[in-house]
Amino acid sequence: MANLLPPTTKTEMIRVSTAAFMFTVVSMAAAAKSVKTAKARPAINPHLLISHAIASSNQLMANYAKHLKPLARRRYDQLARFYDLIEGAMEFFVGDKWRSRLSSLVSGERVLEVGVGTGRNIPYYQAGKEYIAVDLSPNMLKRAVKKGSQKGNEVVFLVMDIERLAFKDNVFDTVLASFTFCSVANPVKGLQELRRVCKPDGKLLMLEHVRPRGRLLGGIFDMLNPLMLWAIADNINRDTISHIEKAGWKIKYCTPLASNIIFLVQAVPHVF
Ligand SMILES: C[S@@+](CC[C@H](N)C(=O)[O-])C[C@H]1O[C@@H](n2cnc3c(N)ncnc32)[C@H](O)[C@@H]1O
Repeated sequence: MANLLPPTTKTEMIRVSTAAFMFTVVSMAAAAKSVKTAKARPAINPHLLISHAIASSNQLMANYAKHLKPLARRRYDQLARFYDLIEGAMEFFVGDKWRSRLSSLVSGERVLEVGVGTGRNIPYYQAGKEYIAVDLSPNMLKRAVKKGSQKGNEVVFLVMDIERLAFKDNVFDTVLASFTFCSVANPVKGLQELRRVCKPDGKLLMLEHVRPRGRLLGGIFDMLNPLMLWAIADNINRDTISHIEKAGWKIKYCTPLASNIIFLVQAVPHVF
């Protein structure tokens, strides 16, 4: 695997950490405001030792698995009106450079964006291509539709589950996703679906955050995961890079954008 970009600078790491902190604080506030009942709220016993807390967090996640999809849909429907504000705080620091890099790598005529959300990538869509954008949350998608009409590109928007795409095999030249697979209930299944609909000579482009490799930071992310899942249906400790490979993709480039937590990935369908 080769890097596409120069290594992250210290200033960039500080900017990203500050943005991530703000992102978390604003998301928590937004979730707390929009959620009237906290029935699904997981609890971590503060008296447990760290290792026990990690184990209980993993157990909690296992128990949660079957509820993940309805939770993601409900949360993003609730958060839709705050989402651009939350993301705006993040993008104030990192600017548009990650999204414009992602979009500049799009090739071919027909492009599928999955988990389009409120359409944060739409301003970077290339002219003259046929874009199809899907999301599980109708409220998120409504906002994307507005951005789509402003851009002037012809974009088709559909409410659809990544894990059960309604497209034929081998139809898209590029499939792309940004910060989506942290909230997909079964990420490997979703990535297999993307591989199915992608042409054999097509590509996958992804911006994603993953679990940090270090034991300490990784452990902290494991412990915070239930809270983030409750607040914004976001798994912050996923090993998405290995999920991509498990789903039958061959990674060509995996470029760290921020402290080995956020990556830009390019992959092609694996030929067995
Ligand atoms: C963190 S948001 C990212 C939105 C957008 N890609 C961005 O970069 O701002 C995750 C999005 O994935 C969508 N999502 C989660 N699970 C999904 C699924 N199974 N099928 C389709 N969309 C899904 C959510 O509704 C949400 O809009």
